[in-house]
Amino acid sequence: MKFLCTLTAGLLAAGHAAAAPNKAADACLKGKKIPASYPGDADYDELAEPFNLRLQYKPAAIVLPETNKHVQDAVICASQCGLKVQAKSGGHSYASFSSGGKNGSMVIDLQPLNSIVLDNTTNIAKVGGGVRLGNLAQGVYDQGKRAISHGTCPGVGIGGHFTHGGYGHTSRNWGIALDHIVGLDVVTADGKLLHATATENTDLFWALRGAAESFGVVTYFYLRTEAAPEVLTYFQFQWGDTLFKDKKAFTDTFLHIQTFSLNASVVDNRISYGIYLDGNATYNLGGTFFGTDKEFNSTILPEFLRGTALPTKIVVQEYAWIPYLILMSDKTTIAEPLTGYDEHDTFFAKSLTVPESSGGLTETTLNAFWDYISTPAPYAYFVIINLYGGPGSAINTKDTSFAAYNDRDSLWVFQNYGTMPTTLEYINGINDVIIEAQPETHFGAYLNYVDPSYTAEEAHELYYGSEVYGRLEGLKSAWDPKMVFWMPQAIGVN
Ligand SMILES: Cc1cc2nc3c(=O)[nH]c(=O)nc-3n(C[C@H](O)[C@H](O)[C@H](O)COP(=O)(O)OP(=O)(O)OC[C@H]3O[C@@H](n4cnc5c(N)ncnc54)[C@H](O)[C@@H]3O)c2cc1C
Ligand SMILES: *[C@@H]1O[C@H](CO)[C@@H](O)[C@H](O)[C@H]1NC(C)=O
Ligand SMILES: *[C@@H]1O[C@H](CO)[C@@H](O)[C@H](O)[C@H]1NC(C)=O
Ligand SMILES: *[C@@H]1O[C@H](CO)[C@@H](O)[C@H](O)[C@H]1NC(C)=O
Ligand SMILES: *[C@@H]1O[C@H](CO)[C@@H](O)[C@H](O)[C@H]1NC(C)=O
Ligand SMILES: *[C@@H]1O[C@H](CO)[C@@H](O)[C@H](O)[C@H]1NC(C)=O
Repeated sequence: MKFLCTLTAGLLAAGHAAAAPNKAADACLKGKKIPASYPGDADYDELAEPFNLRLQYKPAAIVLPETNKHVQDAVICASQCGLKVQAKSGGHSYASFSSGGKNGSMVIDLQPLNSIVLDNTTNIAKVGGGVRLGNLAQGVYDQGKRAISHGTCPGVGIGGHFTHGGYGHTSRNWGIALDHIVGLDVVTADGKLLHATATENTDLFWALRGAAESFGVVTYFYLRTEAAPEVLTYFQFQWGDTLFKDKKAFTDTFLHIQTFSLNASVVDNRISYGIYLDGNATYNLGGTFFGTDKEFNSTILPEFLRGTALPTKIVVQEYAWIPYLILMSDKTTIAEPLTGYDEHDTFFAKSLTVPESSGGLTETTLNAFWDYISTPAPYAYFVIINLYGGPGSAINTKDTSFAAYNDRDSLWVFQNYGTMPTTLEYINGINDVIIEAQPETHFGAYLNYVDPSYTAEEAHELYYGSEVYGRLEGLKSAWDPKMVFWMPQAIGVN
């Protein structure tokens, strides 16, 4: 196979770049009997389809590994034949980077690696890199009534979500999804299979938790689990369109919620929440309390709403763990198919992290935000503003020495999401209006809401900051000098 790839290099130099390298890589993969799908195969189009249909790329090959060895061999083929590689787990990258982020990459689609095994002495789960969040939650619950903190959408994959943060309404209590990782099996650019933990291959362990796609393919995750709570309290306050009609009520309500969020006499690790608002003038605050509805109502609810406009509806309801996850998923089950997943959207989204040290959003900023969103929206969009910081939050008890993940010091994290046909300008405008109103604040961006409209340099600064990025860049040149693992914003791309 090496011969074919060498030949390719010659053809490339002669200017036949388009088809030749694919043939060489195909031959290499076929020679090593690695399961894969190629352009023109019956299953190729469905396998190539990303979650976000706005950005569709055509991989040169989609590898479907059943073993670690398949992944190792595929990475060696790609490296020899000059193909860029990206792992694909749930395929929910907002930028479709798991399709390569360009045409002609090798995608290693981990969906066949779907095992979940809970060790009932350590309570650590070994989980295949292609497992979706709903199946993960159900699996660890069924095997030992265990639970993990992660996002709400059951179709999202472990591979992207856990290596780039992973926020859910249990994160202020248990940490983000990434914090559950105690070990990783990873195939690196030289085709080696390594185990990385806090004491073994420590640099790689640090880098994979924040920038996995630039360092390897994680085939198995080892995850710390928590005892699933017997009961949780879900709460939601709805304001209908009240706050869209009244700037002062909008701003005062947010400012009170922000003061509340920083008030250690009512807020501790047991509570998480986020605000949802959208282009149809909906404004809700929803969240989770690790305790009973009676305790929530007596010690938290009165102070929560003391300084807000009066909600039009209040929901306070106890749930057991799995019914709670189903509620959060907005579906009737959290089980997801192991093959043939076929949910999609067509959208552009971006994020904004608001450092806690800034004190949060100012009155001026909130007024400017209201001015932007209060005029009837020309496009369908929603904004979610999740609480990361505040007293007792398990998210911000760690720092960047723990992992290559840099927005733990956020008070709020915004997600601004527009369903096409929105314009990029409209969604960018939400970010701009906030950033411009608060020039003294150093806003950042959240890795799991990856935004393809940034240049690599902008992305590195917003996601990592210069210190973490500098360390990642050094590790990239040591672990992957040929840039085998590549997408447009990968570590080392200028
Ligand atoms: C409907 C929806 C709901 C969401 N809800 C939440 C939420 O509640 N909270 C939250 O924090 N985020 C949420 N997100 C964002 C989500 O966390 C990210 O999109 C996440 O990165 C998706 O993971 P994935 O495995 O599905 O993506 P993929 O597209 O498969 O992967 C994303 C990136 O990670 C890399 N990668 C994937 N697997 C591996 C691996 N095994 N080894 C190395 N690199 C890998 C890929 O190459 C790609 O660059 C949501 C997204 C969607 C679309
Ligand atoms: C990728 O390939 C598809 C199908 O051949 C093509 O329609 C699309 O324009 C290509 N995209 C880029 C960025 O070249
Ligand atoms: C742990 O798992 C083993 C093997 O599956 C099983 O035999 C044993 O009963 C389990 N122990 C507990 C406490 O669940
Ligand atoms: C914090 O909450 C307590 C109630 O527990 C309340 O009395 C106090 O006024 C709040 N502090 C601020 C700054 O709002
Ligand atoms: C808690 O308060 C809400 C809103 O007032 C109410 O609907 C619910 O019945 C209360 N629950 C308990 C247990 O008091
Ligand atoms: C309002 O909701 C409808 C129905 O869900 C949707 O079609 C429309 O795009 C939304 N409009 C905006 C501006 O969000």
